Amino acid sequence: MPSPVRSAPIGVFDSGIGGLSVLQALRQELPHERFVYLADSGHAPYGEKGEPFVRARSLAIARHLCREYRIKALVVACNTATAAAVETLRSALPELPMVGVEPALKPAARLSRTHHVGVLATRGTAQSARFARLAAEHAGATQFHVQACDGLAHAIEQSTEEAAPAAASTEKIRALCARYTSALGRFGTQDGEIDTLVLGCTHYVFAEPLLQALVGPQVQIIATGAAVARQTRRLLEQLQAQGESGEPASGQIRLCTTGSLPALQAAARRWLDLPASRCASVCVQM
Ligand code: DGL
Repeated sequence: MPSPVRSAPIGVFDSGIGGLSVLQALRQELPHERFVYLADSGHAPYGEKGEPFVRARSLAIARHLCREYRIKALVVACNTATAAAVETLRSALPELPMVGVEPALKPAARLSRTHHVGVLATRGTAQSARFARLAAEHAGATQFHVQACDGLAHAIEQSTEEAAPAAASTEKIRALCARYTSALGRFGTQDGEIDTLVLGCTHYVFAEPLLQALVGPQVQIIATGAAVARQTRRLLEQLQAQGESGEPASGQIRLCTTGSLPALQAAARRWLDLPASRCASVCVQM
């Protein structure tokens, strides 16, 4: 396999703005890399659309990023797209180094003292064969309580369309989080209670303070951004493809969306402290 060009950017995509939570971690772990982030907000949410659709979108986006930006690696910053499409992507683009995102069941099973772990994910992830395999592999003595959260990623996505999220959208997200956490069971550190909660969708990271308030401070919440960033660094090191601090445009981030540009600009400002000029609209045909 030819070694990737070190100064090329890393491509990152998600159904929308959820993957910005992964980009935050990537940027911290890899400050000298260039990133190009694609939010497929025009086709979000993926979680309720079915695997064939998510696979087709993921493939079109990965090809677009390779063609337009000559990316040296791809981070699939979406649990739903990883579950539905990562194998297809790997076989369609065998030369492209790739990292996917999966619910952190393994660390959760290790950390839980009560051996009851809650998992919030999209319907697509929760019902996927890949997730079933992951749960079977890491269950051991642990019981995973899994809840598909229809509407939650969409509500989080919509809240970014407001420059300062209105009380109504925060209340909607809070109500969905309350419904889905109470459907999982009792949280706490006593026998039989859920003491660990896995965020199995990259959008949910932006609702973490609300979720923590609902489940209580003694419950540990686990997201995957930092682990994905570390894995990306290891992969680049293995391939000797890390960016270098002296290179032009080192640390540069570009963002594009198939949906609302003002929404992406607001999210980029809010979560990554990036100016609107870094964002652009894009059309990715299937
Ligand atoms: N952020 C995505 C994930 O991690 C998907 C949300 C959606 O579009 O349903 O699964």
